[in-house]
Parts: sequence; structure tokens; C-alpha cells
Amino acid sequence: MNAIETYDDKVVRLFLFASAVWGIIGMLVGMYLAAELAWPALNLDIPFLTFSKLRPDHTFGVIFAFGGSALMGTCYYIVQRTGHTRLATPRLAEFTFWGWQLICVLAMVTMPLGMTQSKEYAEPEWFVDILIAVVWVSFGWVFFATLARRRIRHIYVANWYYGAFIIAVGLLHIVNNLAIPVSMTKSYPIYSGAVDAMVQWWYGHNAVAFFLTAGFLGMMYYFVPRQAQQPLWSYRFSIVNFWALISIYMWAGSHHLMYTALPDWVQSVGMAFSLVLLMPSWGSAANGLFTFNGSWHRLKDDPAGKFMVMALVFYAAATFEGSMMAIKTVNSLSHYTDWTIAHVHSGSLGWVAMITIGSLYAMAPRALGVPAMYSRRGMEVHFWLHLSGTVLYVLAMWDAGVTEGLMWRATNPDGALTYSFLDSLIAIKPLYMVRWFGGVLIWLGMWVMAWNLWYTAADARQPIISPIPVPIPDPDAGQTPAPLPTQG
Ligand code: HEM
Ligand code: HEM
Repeated sequence: MNAIETYDDKVVRLFLFASAVWGIIGMLVGMYLAAELAWPALNLDIPFLTFSKLRPDHTFGVIFAFGGSALMGTCYYIVQRTGHTRLATPRLAEFTFWGWQLICVLAMVTMPLGMTQSKEYAEPEWFVDILIAVVWVSFGWVFFATLARRRIRHIYVANWYYGAFIIAVGLLHIVNNLAIPVSMTKSYPIYSGAVDAMVQWWYGHNAVAFFLTAGFLGMMYYFVPRQAQQPLWSYRFSIVNFWALISIYMWAGSHHLMYTALPDWVQSVGMAFSLVLLMPSWGSAANGLFTFNGSWHRLKDDPAGKFMVMALVFYAAATFEGSMMAIKTVNSLSHYTDWTIAHVHSGSLGWVAMITIGSLYAMAPRALGVPAMYSRRGMEVHFWLHLSGTVLYVLAMWDAGVTEGLMWRATNPDGALTYSFLDSLIAIKPLYMVRWFGGVLIWLGMWVMAWNLWYTAADARQPIISPIPVPIPDPDAGQTPAPLPTQG
């Protein structure tokens, strides 16, 4: 590490490594859940190992611990570079790191013990929720204060996305978690009935929109042009897509509640907005992909770039699929089936994880002050493990989902159901095994990344061995050596 850093990168490095560790933990739980669905005896009759108790650990672990750490780390990295300034409040930034890690550990320990609000993606109880609010407001403070002291007048589009992500997630978290505590470990939401469902899915859907999409688009808009080594294909288009995305997403949440007690017109509003949402979604995907025009040949030797391109392809695929699933008649087939799980993971493993991994590979050497990742071959192996695992996972769950949907709705001429629920489970069991195997490949890939990051950091700890030749001073001429390159 350089003695004097151009930017405050300590907290960036901490988040970078935390993200890799949480990725391994969160995906290990996902793998175990996948195994339990194929071989149910694996719950070993231990209550906290049952599927229902472990599932929130998987979703919290991958979304908030793995994804959240990557988002916060890249956000601090990008806001400094695009504003040519250091973090406004580095100590507060470090507080957000330790605070976020504490939250993740507390949530992951208390949820399997049964301390849960039973709200999807917002399971932790009130005492964890308060901590989340405090850390989130601090995160917002660091970001906006740094933005305010930027030395470049223009605010680069990546920061718009990070800003929207921070404001929206704070708002969603606070409104959805309003609850009355009745003991140290139990609270009840202030909403009830259909209103509770509507608030929950306004939150749940916009957690996808602003946590799993807007934040990662911020990452994409910074790292894709850097990796392609050329400017964004259309800057104007990125701004149009930004405003379209954030104004449309908020109204689409009711597509999670089709055919429920929600008023029919609210369901139709959700469907209509979901269809329109395809435009800004594909707009961003196209903008990212076209940015590689003219540098596609470079991808051959650039695994980080490959991760980014595949992330954009999966983003386009998952959003197209989502818009189709929001059509009521399609939803009547897909809802409750593994088709939803296929969609979720083409979004999360394909888009979220791949853009994260690509960006971490692009960012790590710069944040650590070394010229490149320790092993390019390791990155390449990781790319193929992750891609093949994701394809296996998603194809298996599409197949399972459509099989389930069709079997559940099949009727005999007398109107009786053709298949029992058990028949459908037996039919998809081999697909559950394929999904588990896909998960194993992905998880092994995460270990390869952790190994690579570890050795890249070890390289950074080596005393002043620079691959860039440093001129040796000529004592007669009284020259001083050129300064070592700093990262930028
Ligand atoms: C090794 C990789 C992974 C494996 C094996 C895996 C496995 C699983 C399994 C078995 C489930 C339960 C499905 C069910 O309820 O029937 C699940 C749910 C879920 N996973 Fe993963 N997962 C992985 C990675 C990820 C990642 C990286 C993310 C997000 C960034 C993610 C997000 C989710 C979400 C949001 C759900 C809940 C979906 C729903 O109920 O609709 N997963 N995962
Ligand atoms: C245009 C964009 C998108 C639209 C219109 C959309 C639409 C949908 C629809 C209709 C469902 C099924 C609801 C149900 O039947 O229960 C769904 C579920 C889901 N989608 Fe998307 N989606 C989009 C993009 C994404 C992306 C990019 C991700 C992830 C990164 C994602 C993550 C999820 C998750 C986690 C669920 C499961 C929620 C649950 O029931 O637990 N979606 N989406």
C-alpha cells in the first residue's frame, strides 16, 4: 500500500473483502437450501437447519451482506474518483463499515433462532432495524457530503444512481418496518390485512428496484466505460433512462400480488407499469453493451470485462422475463412455481453477482495499489464456473417452474386434478439436483475469487517492488527518483 493515498481507500478495501466473505457465506447457505430441497433429510431434524429458518439467512446474506458491502465499497470508491476529492467524513465511513457488518452478523444469527418479523427481505426484528436506519443515514451523509465537496462541477451519472439507491432504500426501510415492539425480541407491524401486504410489496419490489438494480446500475455506469476503455455509448440516454427507471419502478410492486385481495385496478396498474419498465431497463442494458463497441476484441483477455458483458445480457433477459411475468395470464402460470426462482436467480446470479464480481476485479488492484489482479487465469476460471453454474441453475428452474405450472393446472375431463402435488415434486426432483450442482460450481468460483483477492492484497504488502521501472538516480546529476505511481 502506498504511504500517502490519493483517495480514502481503506474503507473501500474493507468492504471489498467483506463482500467476498459474505458472498461465500450467503451462497453456502443457498447451496445448502438447494440440497435440502433435493434431499429433505438434510435438515437433520435440527430446528434452525430447516429450510424455513435458513432461507432468510440466504436472502439477507446475499442481498444485504454480499451485495450491500459491494455497493457501499464501490460507492465510496466512485464518488471520490468522479468528484476528484477524498471522502468528506472518513471516520463516519469507517463507522458505516463496522456498523453494517454488525447488522449482518446480528441478523444472520437472530433470524434462524426465530426472531423475525416474517416480512420477506425485511425479516430482522426491530432492534436490528433501528441499527440499519442509523447506519444507512450515516452512509447517506458520507456520500452526499463527499458529493458536495467535489471539485468537478458535473455529477457523473453513476452518482445519480447511487444517490437514488440511498434515498429510496432509506425511505422503504423506515416505512415498511414501522412496528410496535412488545418485548426485546418481538414487534408487530402497524399495518394489517391488505394494507400490510401492499406496503410489504411496495417495499419488496422496490428493494429489487433500488437495492438490486439502481445501485448496481451505478456500479455498471462507472466500471463498464473504464473496462471498455472508452466513454459511455450515450451519456444523454443514461440520464433519460435514470429518470424513467426511478419514476416507473415505484408503481409496479403490485405485480407481486396478482389474484389476491388487493383491488383489481391496483393489480392492473402494477402490470401496466411493469410492461413500460422494460424500456428503461433495456435502455441501460443496451447503453452498457454498446459501450463495448470497438473494444469487443479486448474481451478475449479480459475476464472482468466478460463478467460485465454477461451481467448486462442477464439484466436484459431478467427484465424482459419480469415484464412478461407481470402479465396477469402469464403470472397465473408462473406464480408459486420455480419459474419465479429462475427469474430471481437470472437477476441475482446473472446480473447482480456478475456485475459485482466484474467490478470487484476491476476495482481491487486500484484500491490496493497494485497493477493487476494476482492471477488472470484465476479470474478466467471463476468466470466459467460462475457462468456455467448460473446457466445450469436458471435452466433447471425454468424447466421445473413450467412443469409445475402445467401439472398443477391440468384437469381430467370430469374436472378433477390430473396430478397430485406429490406427482409434481417427483417430476422436478432431478432438476433440483441440477440446481444444487450449479450452486456448487458458483460457490467454488467464489473461493477462487477470495484466493485471488488474498494474493493480490499480499502483492500489495510487498515492500516497493514496482513493475513499472523507477529511474535510478544519478548521484552526479543530483536527480531525485521519480515518485512511485499512485493508484487512480
Ligand atoms: C450459489 C448460489 C446460489 C444458490 C445455490 C441459491 C439457492 C437458492 C435457493 C435454494 C433458494 C430457495 C428457493 C425456494 O424458495 O424454492 C433461493 C432463494 C433466493 N435467492 Fe438464492 N441462491 C444462490 C445465489 C443467490 C444470489 C447471489 C442472490 C442475490 C444476490 C440470491 C437471491 C435469492 C432470493 C432473493 C431468493 C428468494 C426467492 C423467492 O423466494 O422468490 N441467491 N436461492
Ligand atoms: C423490468 C424489470 C422487472 C420486472 C417487471 C419484474 C417482475 C417480476 C414479477 C412479475 C415477479 C413475480 C411475482 C410473483 O408472481 O410473485 C418477480 C419476482 C421477483 N423478481 Fe423481478 N422483475 C424485474 C426485474 C428483476 C431483477 C433485475 C431482479 C433481481 C436482481 C428481480 C428480482 C425479483 C425477485 C427477488 C422476485 C421474487 C420476489 C418474491 O416473491 O420473493 N426482478 N419480478
